Amino acid sequence: MARKHTRRQTWRAPNSVVVSSGSPKPQRLWQIPLVMAGLGAIVFSIMYLLHPGTGSIATAPGISVPVLSAGGRAGQRVFQQNCAQCHGLNADGSKQGPPLVHRIYEPLQHTDSRFRAAVDRGVQAHHWNFGNMPRIGLSDLETQRVIEYVRELQRANGIG
Ligand code: HEC
Repeated sequence: MARKHTRRQTWRAPNSVVVSSGSPKPQRLWQIPLVMAGLGAIVFSIMYLLHPGTGSIATAPGISVPVLSAGGRAGQRVFQQNCAQCHGLNADGSKQGPPLVHRIYEPLQHTDSRFRAAVDRGVQAHHWNFGNMPRIGLSDLETQRVIEYVRELQRANGIG
């Protein structure tokens, strides 16, 4: 009787140690990559949805128009009378011309002087297939205001 009793104790003790300390750990370790993958997928999809992707602005139905400065508002009026017929009401493009709220027209790639040159002399088609842009007769101040307007739109849409 005494022998059986001690055997049971020695058999149980190692088993219970292995079961209680060993099994929960592998379970938790399995969960970590699953949770990380799940979180990663959620973060990735949120960033994908929020980030204005390259070129997606060109086809977006609308762009966000920020609260404009006084100069930007003056430029908006000039733009709507002289540029919107081709470049779209909010510089988001039309069938006659490209969007200016677009990555390729950010300030480092198309500087303000390129904008002035485009307005003063017109543009030979080189980026798109809309044809040439005619020269537009604007005063220096009007051109400056239009540039302010386009830059404000660009910044509000993550460009420049
Ligand atoms: C009759 C249509 C038309 C009008 C009006 C027009 N544009 Fe354009 N514009 C175009 C087209 C088309 C292009 C693209 C040419 C190309 O393929 O690169 C263009 C390109 C530009 C460019 C890029 C120039 C470069 O160096 O690549 C700027 C800046 C620009 N337009 C500004 C303006 C502004 C500002 C106005 C108004 C004052 C205006 N445009 C009016 C058709 C127009």
